[in-house]
Amino acid sequence: MAKLTVKDLNVRGKRVFMRVDYNVPMEEKDGQMVITDVTRIKETLPTLELLIKQGARIILAAHLGRPKGKCEPTMSLRPVAAKLAEMIGCKVNFADDCIGEQVERLAGELPPGGILLLENVRYYNEEEANDPAFAEKLAKVADVYVNDAFGAAHRAHASTEGVARVVAKRGGQCAAGLLMERELKFLGDELEKPARPFVVILGGAKVSDKIKVIDRLLEKADAILIGGAMAYTFRLAQGYKTGKSLVEAGKAEVAKSALAKAQARNVKFLLPSDDVVAVPVKTDKLDKKGKPVIEYQNARTSGDMNCPDEAAGLDIGPATVKAYSQVIAKAKTILWNGPMGLFENEQFAAGTNAVAQAVATTTQKNGAKSIIGGGDSVKALNKAGLGDKVSFMSTGGGASLEFLEGAVLPGVAALTNKACCCCG
Ligand code: 3PG
Ligand code: MG
Repeated sequence: MAKLTVKDLNVRGKRVFMRVDYNVPMEEKDGQMVITDVTRIKETLPTLELLIKQGARIILAAHLGRPKGKCEPTMSLRPVAAKLAEMIGCKVNFADDCIGEQVERLAGELPPGGILLLENVRYYNEEEANDPAFAEKLAKVADVYVNDAFGAAHRAHASTEGVARVVAKRGGQCAAGLLMERELKFLGDELEKPARPFVVILGGAKVSDKIKVIDRLLEKADAILIGGAMAYTFRLAQGYKTGKSLVEAGKAEVAKSALAKAQARNVKFLLPSDDVVAVPVKTDKLDKKGKPVIEYQNARTSGDMNCPDEAAGLDIGPATVKAYSQVIAKAKTILWNGPMGLFENEQFAAGTNAVAQAVATTTQKNGAKSIIGGGDSVKALNKAGLGDKVSFMSTGGGASLEFLEGAVLPGVAALTNKACCCCG
């Protein structure tokens, strides 16, 4: 069912409670939290600009990190207010809380076109619990609800779902923002009847994260190319040795049934024919999370399907890059989710970079539509400077995966349905 969008609303003078996904990466520098990637802020600007032009009074709500109901200062949204003001070129007011008298007063003082950003909604446990009383408190400043937080739409939380229900119950409208609309168009409508060949590239660590997506896309895709550590669970299923590669031993049967389904449906299902392997060695150094840093020694290309006992597979090899690039080059629609290897480490980034390049070239030269399913693939494309060479990059991680699996996202379900022509 099509949902109402901000373009359908008349919001002049109204208080628009807008959920955004400003869960942006931050780093501490000289005692200050600094935003390291502003994509999620930038992508909300079109909706904000439209609402400002229409004279709405805009109240923005978001979460940052997982503070688990505590007021964790490193997870404050205050730095986001400053960044948003700089990017949109107007004042952005900030409330130290997301509910209560101060919020109501600041919202009341907003002029038409004014913006107020509320503090992290996850400072309250009631947010994730989707507590109805908390949703009522949030909704005190909402005449209209807009959801532009695609990245959090898979969560049935108070600010993504509960508030919409409260506003709707009062007879108010709940609409998708322009970013939400674009995400649903590319990840949904565009993949409904894709131009063929439709090539799907899936990587990442775990088969279990992607199996529902694989299963669903086996119904639609002409080819599925597998990379990342999850390729080794497929190898295990085929009876090969996987050495120290990251595998999910308990998922070998799941991998087997995906292979069987691909064969039955005549879908080209490609697994790596060679790899970059290396010997992982624990060092005394600790990473940011306090875990020992692993160093990789004796990195080399291997065409042996059996991984040496002491080594782990960490990237697709050059023969696989060539084979995958050839399939990608013929595509008319491409969906990519998940890196081909441990791309954060330069030693194992070649496979992911080559796939990024092949996707970008096929988009630019052959007019293929390329849709990137968020998370690490977006990071890899941006790192390679190819972010603007693909058709669409999702701002969602978990949300894009769940949507591709065919799940109904609670944040979308709660929005007002568009009246259809037959209902008048
Ligand atoms: C994300 O970054 O995945 C979204 O903002 C949702 O965050 P969450 O996974 O902590 O719910
Ligand atoms: Mg997530």
